[in-house]
Amino acid sequence: MTTRSIELTVNGTVCRAEVEPRTALADFLRDDLLLTGTHLGCEHGVCGACTVNIDGVPARSCITYAVLCDKAHVTTIEGFDGDEVVGRLRQAFSEEHGLQCGFCTPGMIATARDIVLRLPEADDARVRLELSGNLCRCTGYSGIVRAIRRVLDERKLAGQPAVNARTRLGPAGSGHAGASLGRERVGAGAAPAPAEAALPAPSQGSVAALPGDKLSGDAKPSVAVRHSFVVPERRDRVWAFFENVEDVVACMPGASLTEATPDGRLSGQMSVRLGPISATFLGNAEIARDPARYSGTIRGHGRDRTSGSGSTGEIRYALVDEGERTRVDIDVTASLTGTLAQFGRLGLVNDLVRRLTDAFSANLQARLRPGEPGGAAGEALAQPARLDLASMLLAVIGARLRLIANRLRGR
Ligand code: FES
Ligand code: FES
Repeated sequence: MTTRSIELTVNGTVCRAEVEPRTALADFLRDDLLLTGTHLGCEHGVCGACTVNIDGVPARSCITYAVLCDKAHVTTIEGFDGDEVVGRLRQAFSEEHGLQCGFCTPGMIATARDIVLRLPEADDARVRLELSGNLCRCTGYSGIVRAIRRVLDERKLAGQPAVNARTRLGPAGSGHAGASLGRERVGAGAAPAPAEAALPAPSQGSVAALPGDKLSGDAKPSVAVRHSFVVPERRDRVWAFFENVEDVVACMPGASLTEATPDGRLSGQMSVRLGPISATFLGNAEIARDPARYSGTIRGHGRDRTSGSGSTGEIRYALVDEGERTRVDIDVTASLTGTLAQFGRLGLVNDLVRRLTDAFSANLQARLRPGEPGGAAGEALAQPARLDLASMLLAVIGARLRLIANRLRGR
């Protein structure tokens, strides 16, 4: 079994250990250091129960590898014992009925402490937004929000300023181990880009702010995904198709265009359903094309007023000549905020984007080959009026569970 040596400071104590590269920080904390105050709920980066501080930044220890925390300072709920803010939060959670079974509470406290220190002016809406990555199955959240607001108000009355000047929000990691272990590569498993693809590697978190866009500064988490698919058509034909914005948008599940101007500006909407959450993102985008390189960029931002979710993103595409076929390389970088942000964990988003681009590819081929079996002539495209993320998410999780089951069976 391959192991690596790590040294990290946990709750003020230096720890040295040999860990497998796949060991999650949460497992290391619980199983090796017996710090069982760090709870594990979903083990998938969704529920927030495992939240700890890594170098002062709240992070999900279930999806953070222990080796990536080499040289980092980690603080778990046990390490906050003497912390003045956490002391106040504990009391306020108790007085405002901010907990029942207490399972979510260690993660809630870590996130709440970050809110109190970083956002002294936060109102109820902002507190709820910041808590959107921590799930509680008991309280209904009202008591938790009241508790955090109580501590915020007390500190404001006492003239205590924000003391945490950090400006970035996740993904958090120690940052110390990057040089030796390699930074997390976005789009893992995606097709490698050959020379002609001409798309530079996407830089995680590099979503550019657009004029009037208030989302990017608050966005969490940023995602970046690279995906490729092949269309059985010559490149010139596919390029000509890509020049018609209406046709391209019509291939995207859930998307529709309301306005397109000759200078490449678009207005449109994207409808998404996620269980009980129904969102319609209204937004604007700009398109830039480079005919010499058969590539283009679409930058846009959108907001759903009902759910309070927002997104900012950039799609870069390049058409690669493969004779009678064309490979379409797509880089997507995006930031989500609000209710839907909790589904922005990299692995899930990667799978979802792959399924979206598969649907886009099928629709593209249907449009390019009208009249053929599976073609578009007289048929509705494989495009629901509203993008059902829930069924996609279930399909993704189902596929992963089958993979795990097959591994356990040794297949
Ligand atoms: Fe880590 Fe749920 S256990 S986010
Ligand atoms: Fe039980 Fe939050 S208090 S899950």
